[in-house]
Amino acid sequence: MSKTKTAFFCQSCGYESPKWMGKCPSCSSWNSFVEEIKQKKGSAAPFSKNSTDAKPVVLGDISRNEKQKNELQDKELNRVLGGGIVVGSLILVGGDPGIGKSTLMLQLAIKENLKVLYVSGEESENQIKMRAERIGILNEHCHILTETNLESILIHANNVQPEILIIDSIQTLHSSQIESAAGSVSQVRECTASLLRYSKESDVPTFLIGHITKDGGIAGPKVLEHMVDTVLQFEGDRNYVYRLLRTSKNRFGSTNEIGIYEMSGSGLRPVENPSEILVTNTDVELSGIAISSTIEGVRPFLIEIQALVSSAAYGTPQRSSTGFDAKRLNMLLAVLEKRCGFKLGAKDVFLNIAGGIKVDDPGVDLAVTMAVLSSNANLPIPAGIAFAAEVGLSGEIRPVNRVDQRIAEVEKLGYKKIIISQNIKGFDASNYKIDIVQCSKIDQVVKAVFS
Ligand code: TYD
Ligand code: MG
Repeated sequence: MSKTKTAFFCQSCGYESPKWMGKCPSCSSWNSFVEEIKQKKGSAAPFSKNSTDAKPVVLGDISRNEKQKNELQDKELNRVLGGGIVVGSLILVGGDPGIGKSTLMLQLAIKENLKVLYVSGEESENQIKMRAERIGILNEHCHILTETNLESILIHANNVQPEILIIDSIQTLHSSQIESAAGSVSQVRECTASLLRYSKESDVPTFLIGHITKDGGIAGPKVLEHMVDTVLQFEGDRNYVYRLLRTSKNRFGSTNEIGIYEMSGSGLRPVENPSEILVTNTDVELSGIAISSTIEGVRPFLIEIQALVSSAAYGTPQRSSTGFDAKRLNMLLAVLEKRCGFKLGAKDVFLNIAGGIKVDDPGVDLAVTMAVLSSNANLPIPAGIAFAAEVGLSGEIRPVNRVDQRIAEVEKLGYKKIIISQNIKGFDASNYKIDIVQCSKIDQVVKAVFS
């Protein structure tokens, strides 16, 4: 009898080593090696039909299946998937615990008019029913299966013949082909490979919910992300109601798209007009608030930047930022100090993007700068002004991409004035009804806003 072969695997990246190591040479994580039984030969083949039926085909001879993409009723999910759900695709959904991954998937299962098989290894039938009632069941064709054994899940899937298969979560599945525990690198890899084979052969789109590690990556081997067609990240601040669905990989569409949801008492509500809720409409003008027109993917919306500048209580001034890169904030403060003569060196600066949203669009720079200046001078920015420009290291106001869309969004929401960069090639301000102020230096912006 042959001896069972074991090896040590890094639980965060899947690196294999014949002996235990304290630090992984591949991903540098500590104490992540676990001994696992090596897979039986041949079990990890990702996607192949029986070796004899696959033959090379000329591309011109491949007939395209007419109904490649099915549009979903959930517009936000459609958008991030690139216009609909592609048949036979494998989609991985990751996100922090409690962010709403199970809710999003169950909602897809019970609200779309499709035959869905929802497999849960995390909750009991009762718990799922309770959640479904909370969301409101519209689809009676939804099958629920609470099972963690991969082979029986595949048998049930072949019997039910669903139009969509959902697995909550990939880390709870185990295959009897492999002896290591559920959630280990080899189990996750093997289960994903089998589900990949299932979805490609049966053309059933499959969603996998994946846990994430403490640095925000999908737990399990890195190959997981290579195997699947699309990786969606569900993110947001748990203390706020807004959730963003982003694509970090998509074989069938752009990765720039985002979907926005609001977590309500009865499930996740798609947000179609983000600007209207991300900006607070108050009659009182407050200092330290500036509105920026930003773009995520191809979608423009307005966000509210809030800054608080106060004399440093302790020797070293504090700089803290939520939703905006702290290094970029420090850079903007240095530009204000050095190029524009504002003395902020002995001030605490706090910055926040309202609604718990994170932005990394440089086009919000000018609004950040103006929010800081407004709080520093304790002068509110008059209502009806929005900003869309980047600030350079010499204090110059730089143009941003898709300025037309940004202006159109601001105009649509009834703002009176937008401040953008001077140097935009081929830009014609007379196309818009809104008052467009083009500036090249921060001093000009200050003049345009406060006088
Ligand atoms: P869940 O989908 O269980 O998160 P995940 O699967 O990502 O771990 O989401 C749980 C959170 O969502 C929980 O804190 C309660 C909240 N929630 C609502 O606010 N409204 C609802 O209708 C539902 C179903 C959940
Ligand atoms: Mg869950």
